Amino acid sequence: MRAVLCREPGGPDVLEVRELEDPTPAPDGVVIDIAASAVNRADLMQRQGRYPPPAGGSDVLGLECSGTVAATGEDVTRWQVGDRVCALLTAGGYAEKVAVPAGQVLPVPAGLDLTEAAALPEVVTTVWSNVFMIAALQPDEFFLVHGGAGGIGTMAIQLAKALGASVACTVGSADKAEACVRLGADLAINYREQDFVEEVRRFDPSGVDVILDNMGASYLARNVDALGNEGRLVVIGLQGGATGELDLRTLLGKRAAVIATSLRSRPAGEKAAIVASVEEHVWPLIAQGRVRPIVHSTVSLDDVRSAHELVESSGHIGKVVLTT
Ligand SMILES: NC(=O)c1ccc[n+]([C@@H]2O[C@H](COP(=O)([O-])OP(=O)(O)OC[C@H]3O[C@@H](n4cnc5c(N)ncnc54)[C@H](OP(=O)(O)O)[C@@H]3O)[C@@H](O)[C@H]2O)c1
Repeated sequence: MRAVLCREPGGPDVLEVRELEDPTPAPDGVVIDIAASAVNRADLMQRQGRYPPPAGGSDVLGLECSGTVAATGEDVTRWQVGDRVCALLTAGGYAEKVAVPAGQVLPVPAGLDLTEAAALPEVVTTVWSNVFMIAALQPDEFFLVHGGAGGIGTMAIQLAKALGASVACTVGSADKAEACVRLGADLAINYREQDFVEEVRRFDPSGVDVILDNMGASYLARNVDALGNEGRLVVIGLQGGATGELDLRTLLGKRAAVIATSLRSRPAGEKAAIVASVEEHVWPLIAQGRVRPIVHSTVSLDDVRSAHELVESSGHIGKVVLTT
């Protein structure tokens, strides 16, 4: 099979398409003939040598895919050869085939094609597990997501809105603000021109209940300032650095919580539980058309370097999909 590997840590030019042995399924896994994968910001960090795959994992990039089941392990009962599926991967999505535990596979939601389905697994499982399973956002609460126009952001806005929360987001330009409002955001704050703490307080003086944060250190203190009583800050990205300073009195006074998680390093059993919860709670919203994958563009696997350049420059809104 053809697959994308990094020659060495570096810029997009270290990405190479190479020939590798086809994978075989584990007893509790399937092999998928990949139709499409999608670029995540984590892939850029892996390419730069800053986010290695978990020990023993494949070096092929790619955290999600869609396609057709090509083979099943002897213990697998749910999936049959020929099923149209998408899957949450630990690695290996930028390829023509991948082996994945059966519990990380989902059916393609009703009404979607394989290109659209490839844009879902990583963002849906990340947003669902962090915002709803961990931070327990409630329908009458106020939610803020940073980077509202990115892959995670576009899904977080839609899911929080569909489940009844008020939604604010931060963005870096006016066209991204417009896109987020079209997706349902009640407030889109241009972080280059406005102070997000002031803006969320103007919208709701009692503060934000749940924040999904991609920035880490650079936003830590201001995020906690923006929280209301019993607010929950969930840090999932460190685009603004890893080491921050926080006056714990602010946290104490609000009885607030700071949580940080990584999906990729979770054991397969935990990923399967998240995937099952997503199928139960999110797949119906997609089938009803209330939540949809936002595909910025599709790029051939052979042009993977240009796909990384696009995401690195933040020129996208939603997801950049790679087709085999
Ligand atoms: N922990 C986990 O399990 C997990 C899982 C998935 C993703 N993540 C993390 O989630 C984040 C988003 O991933 P993604 O794939 O959705 O990436 P993405 O599509 O590239 O989105 C990142 C967004 O960050 C925004 N941004 C840049 N500087 C900003 C700032 N100062 N303030 C607010 N927003 C800013 C960019 O928007 P502008 O152009 O508007 O600046 C861009 O839309 C990444 O940090 C990724 O590592 C974590």
